[in-house]
Formats: sequence, structure tokens, C-alpha cells
Amino acid sequence: MSNKIAVFASGTGSNFDAIMEACDKGTLNADVTLLVSDKINAAVIEKAQKRNVDTVVFNPKSFENKAEFEKALLADCQARDVEWIILAGYMRLIGSTLLEAYPKRIINIHPSLLPAFPGKDAIGQAIDKKVKVTGVTVHFVDDGMDTGPIIAQEALSISEEDTKDEVRRKIQAVEHQLYPQVIQSLLIKEEAK
Ligand code: GAR
Repeated sequence: MSNKIAVFASGTGSNFDAIMEACDKGTLNADVTLLVSDKINAAVIEKAQKRNVDTVVFNPKSFENKAEFEKALLADCQARDVEWIILAGYMRLIGSTLLEAYPKRIINIHPSLLPAFPGKDAIGQAIDKKVKVTGVTVHFVDDGMDTGPIIAQEALSISEEDTKDEVRRKIQAVEHQLYPQVIQSLLIKEEAK
């Protein structure tokens, strides 16, 4: 039986696509039943619609607080029997409503070797520090900013000649391989319990 997952994303959705392609190939035994976005114009929304994935798009400012919109998102997830929440470029801290409903079931990918360069523009932060090695981290989500327990990391070399776009391309090439693999390994571990 495939595992029902929701993807939360605010951006272009290249990781969403990588997850969908892994599902299509059968290397990821999951069924993406929902795409949630907090950005009305995010390109990921059209990607999800093209693939006939249900979308929930919300404006956080239309809600009184985080707990209110997370209650609505929780209802959307529960209505579709979502078992895992996969953050793929969702640029918002997760609050207690979702964390308590999905303990150790919310996963994030971040474009640095955490704990280095948490938060926004991790790629820019790494370039500014002139690091020679950066990478990608997949971690469980807690209430901090990119602070949850690390599940997997992959390093890659960058050089001072690399533009920001080149570094992003290198990072995303790693992300698109790593994220579906890590999600699949978590699903297998959970099934074996
Ligand atoms: C990805 O590189 C992901 O690691 C990053 O946002 C990008 C989304 O790209 N996430 C964070 O920075 C989280 N703190 P995508 O929309 O093309 O998948």
C-alpha cells in the first residue's frame, strides 16, 4: 500500500516535481494527495494542478494567527488521510498544531549543511562566507528554524568562480536525488516497525 503524503511548498516546485517523478517511477512508494502553498502565485501550484494533485492555497494574512491556519491545514490533511508532511521550499515555521498532530512525520529539506546557514537564502550565506564545501540537509521538523534532528546530509564542492545560479543548480541536482530517496527510506523504516 502506498503512503499518503502532503507536500508544502512556497516556490517553484522543482523538489515537488522530483518527488512526483520518483512516485511515477516507483522508486518512492507514496501517493501525493495534497499540495499546500502559502503563496498565491507560486509556480508549484500549476505543477500540482497539471498532475491532478489537490491544491490548497492560502494567504496567512487572512487568518488571525498561525494556529488558525494550521487548524484549517490539519483538517485538509486529515480529510485526505495524509500520513506524512513533506516541506519542499515551504518558507514558514511549523507551529504546535501540526507538530503535535504529526510527531516525527514532518520532514524538511534545506540547501546547506546544517547547522551551518539556517534560515533564508542559505545559498547566498554560503557564498558570502566563501566556503569551499556546502550541501543539502534533510531533517525532522521541530519548532525551531531548521533545527530538528538531521536524517541525511550530502556535501558538494563549490568554487569562488561559481555564480549563485550555478551553486543553486548544483544544490538542487543533489536535492532532487536525495529527497525522494530519504523519504522512501523513512517510509520503509516506519513500515518495519
Ligand atoms: C530548495 O532548494 C529547498 O532546499 C529550499 O527552498 C528551495 C525550493 O526550491 N528550502 C529552504 O531554504 C528551507 N529553509 P523548489 O521550489 O524548486 O523545490
